[in-house]
Amino acid sequence: MQGKWFAQVAPGLEPMLVQDLEALGISAQMEKGGAVFQGDLEQMYRVLLRSRVAGRLRRRIGTFKAKNPDELAKGIRRLSWKPWVSPRQPVEVHLSSSQSHLKHKGSVAKKTELAIQDALRGPRKPGRRPSRSSVRVDLRVVRDEVTVSIDATGELLHRRGWRLSSAMAPIRENRAAAILMLAGWAPGETLVDPMCGSGTFPIEAALWSLGKAPGGQRAFAFEHWDSHKESAWKAAKKKIVRATPGRRTVFLGSDRNAGAVNAARENAKRAGVQSEIAFRCEPFADLRPPDGKPGLVVFNPPWGGRVSSGNVTGVWRGLGGVLRSRWKGWRIALVGPVGGLHNATGLSLNTLASFESGGVRVSVWGGFV
Ligand SMILES: C[S@@+](CC[C@H](N)C(=O)[O-])C[C@H]1O[C@@H](n2cnc3c(N)ncnc32)[C@H](O)[C@@H]1O
Repeated sequence: MQGKWFAQVAPGLEPMLVQDLEALGISAQMEKGGAVFQGDLEQMYRVLLRSRVAGRLRRRIGTFKAKNPDELAKGIRRLSWKPWVSPRQPVEVHLSSSQSHLKHKGSVAKKTELAIQDALRGPRKPGRRPSRSSVRVDLRVVRDEVTVSIDATGELLHRRGWRLSSAMAPIRENRAAAILMLAGWAPGETLVDPMCGSGTFPIEAALWSLGKAPGGQRAFAFEHWDSHKESAWKAAKKKIVRATPGRRTVFLGSDRNAGAVNAARENAKRAGVQSEIAFRCEPFADLRPPDGKPGLVVFNPPWGGRVSSGNVTGVWRGLGGVLRSRWKGWRIALVGPVGGLHNATGLSLNTLASFESGGVRVSVWGGFV
């Protein structure tokens, strides 16, 4: 099952993905919107269970040139479909096309589905029923060059399974992990999120500090591939999710909204890290830093587009003032919309990365208070 895999991430966060995969012993090359690596099922299991930053994982199964639907069907029929799809199993085709003749989603999808079923024609395997779960097939067409991939993921990887309670404008779990990496945070350093909402930053960091596998609580699309071997998967999963040695770390999550703090507590419980994180319901201006060595304050404060909170510039100016008066010596990582809003804090901040989140271009800024 050796082959080429593409792990996807929001464009702008690719270096964090490569770093994350390296930590899993996987050497990957950066591509726009992700990273490519060579591997087998063991690497696939490892990425799905242990990557903190990847959003999706696909197996690339072939590339060919096609300028029209007939050439597309011919190319599709030539690929090997048996490992991935069983005869009559539903297929969900996703197309992204640029500078190419093939761009009509509906007709490309229909042609692809029929060509896959053609390729699978032959004697039926006795005693086997096709899975009712569909297999997602991604077609990326650039200048008439078609790249065909099979999705191994299912629901996006940031859905770890623990965030059922959500506060306002939560950040995706894999992006929170990438931001922690960008900020140079590592287990052992005290972490505070003073506007924690549903608790994403401290929960994600606590899972990390305990060496827990972020994907250990969820299911994946590859479990419906025709070649899937449940016993091999179970054995591999048992090994891969075994917690690696953790590091004791102080975590504090706080929010002025009691509903958000309750949601964060519930989420932490489901993630199995409730005993690691102290949660408080306090406005940032009243929050006292935990005792001990200063660490990292990380947060995505409200901003206009997603959270309405009156004068947003005033909010950011205010939080800059609180940081300067109470949090001297702490490192900070802030997430907010690209533009001048971060200047309102009055802090000297460096842009660490920019990416798109919920249709808004956001930046991550880092610095010292
Ligand atoms: C964008 S949300 C944070 C989302 C969070 N990172 C998550 O993943 O769920 C901003 C949060 O800041 C909180 N907030 C706004 N102003 C605050 C203040 N002055 N003190 C404490 N929390 C505040 C809001 O209640 C909201 O939960």
